[in-house]
Amino acid sequence: MSVSIKNAREIELMRHAGKLLEQVHNELGKMIRPGITTLDIDRAGEKMIRDLGCIPNFKNYNGYPASICTSVNDEVVHGIPSKKRVLREGDIISLDAGLIYEGYHSDAARTYAVGNISPEAQKLMDVTRESFFEGIKYAKAGHHLHEISAAIGNYCESRGYGVVRDLVGHGIGTHLHEDPQIPNFACRSRGIRLRPGMTLAIEPMITMGTWEVAWLDDDWTVVTEDGSLAAHYENTVLITDGEPELLTLTL
Ligand code: CO
Repeated sequence: MSVSIKNAREIELMRHAGKLLEQVHNELGKMIRPGITTLDIDRAGEKMIRDLGCIPNFKNYNGYPASICTSVNDEVVHGIPSKKRVLREGDIISLDAGLIYEGYHSDAARTYAVGNISPEAQKLMDVTRESFFEGIKYAKAGHHLHEISAAIGNYCESRGYGVVRDLVGHGIGTHLHEDPQIPNFACRSRGIRLRPGMTLAIEPMITMGTWEVAWLDDDWTVVTEDGSLAAHYENTVLITDGEPELLTLTL
């Protein structure tokens, strides 16, 4: 296993890839309302990424057929956009998007409410986002990777939520998925020692019920085994000498 350390030039390109992805997420977030289809979101996202002069990195990745992953309610991640999937009031939807700028990847996900949602669904979304920020308290040079994992997992599990174990975060750079893998739960090992110049996509996937997931027949869409709601929150993060730098932060 080798974890790449980005030099100053590469960090600048990663920053730019992140900034452009922030713009895409901000625009896609504004589209979320009852009546829109998940294909509408994908079309708009892909157009925006290409208009920015970038490449959608998810498209055709291991055969994934779209540019944006749209995962509704009990869908955890990798939902495939469809003109048949119409968003309805009360749904929650996670949008996972990424792009390549000058050979460097960015990757980020947000979960949104469609119109008015239940307080329980809102709490799930809040805890998922909060767990990311708990995790990155340890995203500092000298700390070990699995301190991030444990902080995320413990934050969610202590509040009664399920933490998906079959999918993990990842290093990112000239490839969408680089070493290391980043679990969202406590591990027996402490993981690699973090060093400045590492870039990590940290992405808690949290459910209102079980941690167990299943794959639909499309071989992509990951759903909760018990049908409970799931949320996803992800940013590309740069390890520095001090506080971590969030390369894809949006409001
Ligand atoms: Co990712």
